[in-house]
Amino acid sequence: MLTAGPTHEKIDPVRFIGNYSSGKMGYAIAEELAERGAEVTLISGPTQLHVTHPSIHKISVESAKEMYAASMEHFDTMDAAIMAAAVADYAPENYASQKLKRDGEDLILRLVPNPDIAASLGAIKEKQILVGFALETQHAEANARKKIEKKNLDFVVLNSLENKGAGFQTDTNIISILHRNGEQQDYPLKSKRAVAVDIVDYLEKSL
Ligand code: C5P
Repeated sequence: MLTAGPTHEKIDPVRFIGNYSSGKMGYAIAEELAERGAEVTLISGPTQLHVTHPSIHKISVESAKEMYAASMEHFDTMDAAIMAAAVADYAPENYASQKLKRDGEDLILRLVPNPDIAASLGAIKEKQILVGFALETQHAEANARKKIEKKNLDFVVLNSLENKGAGFQTDTNIISILHRNGEQQDYPLKSKRAVAVDIVDYLEKSL
């Protein structure tokens, strides 16, 4: 199972809070898994991407809460779950059912925390391998290791924004994989499709 893409948190019928995630990394991993014979459940936020492989079963969601519900529903039958989505940390507390009007005054939006999907799966996991992503701008490795503990991950794929060519919207990525056993593997700049091969190789070794 994979989560991928951004989430959109609705403000009113025509506005949302989102982020720049393209979904490319998650979809590339889904393709690689399917090509190796896996049945893949891809829980995807809104993206421009399409799946073609018949073994990828896509569930489209919009918000973090919907992504959480779909992930919790499917997790117990999975061998592994890869959390590649850029989940919004906060959502507007209230949804306005009519388009908000401009009235010249300040507009105050109160945001409330979204559920942490990876941590929720980490808390209930049995035999599943749980993989997280970390996108850090500073103290990358230390923060990634904290995530392993907090979310009960088996390993974390770290992309550092200090690296050019890594992260959101690009077709390339530079990653390190940090395992909960202390192991670390660094990889050079590659296309996201080639990075997906490295991640799935590493996952296969862990299964
Ligand atoms: O805590 P942080 O957002 O940095 O952690 C990133 C990892 O946690 C990613 O694997 C992301 O998909 C996952 N995550 C999640 N639910 C959230 C926030 C992050 O599954 N609400």
